[in-house]
Amino acid sequence: MKDNYSREINYLRLSITDRCNLACFYCQPRRDWQKLPASEIMQYEELLQAARAAITVGIRKIRVTGGEPLVRRGVVDFVRALHRLPGLEKVCLTTNGVLLADMARDLYAAGLRHLNLSLDTLNPERFRTITGRDHFAQVLAGLWRALELGFHPVKVNCVVLKDINDDELLDFARLARDLPLQVRFIEFMPTISEERWARHFLPMSEVRRRLAVLGEMQTLGRRPTSGPAHLVRPAGFQGELGFINPVSQHHCSTCNRLRLTASGRLRPCLFSQREIDLKGPLRQGASLADLARLFEQAVKAKPSLPEPRISTEALSSCPMVGIGG
Ligand code: 5AD
Repeated sequence: MKDNYSREINYLRLSITDRCNLACFYCQPRRDWQKLPASEIMQYEELLQAARAAITVGIRKIRVTGGEPLVRRGVVDFVRALHRLPGLEKVCLTTNGVLLADMARDLYAAGLRHLNLSLDTLNPERFRTITGRDHFAQVLAGLWRALELGFHPVKVNCVVLKDINDDELLDFARLARDLPLQVRFIEFMPTISEERWARHFLPMSEVRRRLAVLGEMQTLGRRPTSGPAHLVRPAGFQGELGFINPVSQHHCSTCNRLRLTASGRLRPCLFSQREIDLKGPLRQGASLADLARLFEQAVKAKPSLPEPRISTEALSSCPMVGIGG
């Protein structure tokens, strides 16, 4: 359905857990943050009911996210169940890849094809610095496995961090040269202290300038699957590059999404703290039509623009780990 600003809202991001097996420095919750107790996490049947309601108001694409979705037991069956929901056209999953090598075959068999892999470095030591864990080899094995099995599209999401990984831009680009995947460079959003964020922020214009050495790039424009990414294919590339600049240029006018947090709250906008509780009504016996009305409410609550500027306050109030990016 359309929101108040004529945007067609057809995409729902479902966070199925607030747990993660990495501890990336920019995604660290506040010190006073506590993991949700199991009883506060949406059960799979509840998530499916939410998805059914979402479909009745026009959601056509669902992305499973986290935390790290693959750490939640039963995720493969859940992904299979999502694929069986009538009316849903696309099911995608975002993962950090740590458990992917082991789970890729089952996920594929469950119907999954669209995979986003978060990976900010191709250097094992640096991986540990960024994520706090030593799982680089596992993640890479997961990526190879996914390509081998034929997942498509596979998108590698790289958050560009000045003085941390910005010397690897060409290495990342080469992945897309040699493999049929999309490498997407993402501007670092202020999820940590303003000061640290500023130290590591690199605008996408600078990323593109540095990648100019790749030569002529065919602009692919916005495709239905490209989301907010500007896509290009440099000459001789099997894959594509994508540029996502949520900080230097917001994507509000083309925003088509809603988010459901792991605790069952609908978030109309990532950059606003407004939430609509879905889990409460669901557990009090709300009908599918009641739930659909909550989705409608969330669609109508979507602001036209973010708050005057994307604030650390707004982003860190409900840490990324519970929203799923
Ligand atoms: N800036 C940009 N992207 C972020 N993500 C998490 N935190 C940030 C941030 N501060 C991304 C992850 C992953 C997706 C789920 O969200 O890197 O690709």
